[in-house]
Amino acid sequence: MPVPMLRTLVTGGAGFLGSNLTLKLLSEGRQVTVLDDLCTGFASNIPEGVRFIQADVCEPLVGEYDEIYHLACAASPDKYQAEPLQTLRTNFIGTSNVLELARRCGASVLFTSTSEVYGDPRVCPQVESYWGNVNSFGPRSCYDEGKRVSESLCYTYSERYQVRIRIARIFNTYGPRMAPDDGRVVSNFVVQALQGKSLTVYGDGSQTRSLCYVDDLIRGLVCLMHAQGANLEAPVNLGNPHEMSVKEIAEKVLELSASRSQIAYRPLPQDDPTRRCPDIQRARGWLGWEPEVSVEKGLAATIDYFRGQLT
Ligand SMILES: NC(=O)c1ccc[n+]([C@@H]2O[C@H](COP(=O)([O-])OP(=O)(O)OC[C@H]3O[C@@H](n4cnc5c(N)ncnc54)[C@H](O)[C@@H]3O)[C@@H](O)[C@H]2O)c1
Repeated sequence: MPVPMLRTLVTGGAGFLGSNLTLKLLSEGRQVTVLDDLCTGFASNIPEGVRFIQADVCEPLVGEYDEIYHLACAASPDKYQAEPLQTLRTNFIGTSNVLELARRCGASVLFTSTSEVYGDPRVCPQVESYWGNVNSFGPRSCYDEGKRVSESLCYTYSERYQVRIRIARIFNTYGPRMAPDDGRVVSNFVVQALQGKSLTVYGDGSQTRSLCYVDDLIRGLVCLMHAQGANLEAPVNLGNPHEMSVKEIAEKVLELSASRSQIAYRPLPQDDPTRRCPDIQRARGWLGWEPEVSVEKGLAATIDYFRGQLT
């Protein structure tokens, strides 16, 4: 019996994670459509063989799909804070549209939520049952609260309309295909190191981040979409529990890129989280997933990628 080809929609498929995911789905023989308005993504990221719809996810959506990976939303603080109302709209209206489309055509939806739903956490590592410490009235709230309301929409469509949903709470992920100017910690450090500029560390650099290599994360997303069993509508943390201070990350980038750049300290932005580390027991138990790529290997591959981009 031939296996039926799944019709897959990737919203935000021209971005960093979306384009890596699209490549993975194509390699598995999926028929992929990318919907993206290119606000932070690039048409050049979309591989051949993919149907591309250039559109805002806030516009009504049509089509017939079996699976929808819903990634559309600017992820870098610089970008989502530049257009805060659009960030809120993308999360509320865009996620509503995706879930409505899924309800009509019977598709499964995987929503890419974020560790930012935990805000500046009082619990470390962050476990899914922790409800977070989020400031609803500040510059990051358009994203943090936007993602929280998106999770609530997923819950409601699952309860009310039995839409099959999956929620990945993604922790800092990095790797090839990140935009060099998107202002995230790894891309900033690598680009600065390769250009011989000082690496900008905010605060004293003691705040922590846990870095997940993109291949690990994408494997986790696909695994979560297809996992069967009870309770799988509940959010699942996907990230690397190896916690490092921002200063350590900067030093590792300098070492691996053999750069002579210095570290420059700048004031900490408002509401910058001090601790970030996922508890991944749920992902381990429910999906049999855990990260495999070491930070040395992942950073080295990322440095190679940016070296190619910058020359
Ligand atoms: N990369 C990470 O570390 C990380 C961490 C947590 C959560 N996430 C989530 O994963 C998803 C993808 O993140 P990324 O790192 O690839 O970001 P990205 O900015 O590289 O990609 C987002 C993509 O969505 C598109 N987009 C944004 N708003 C849209 C809209 N209204 N309509 C259509 N397209 C739109 C952009 O053009 C871009 O191609 C986001 O939802 C983000 O919140 C990422």
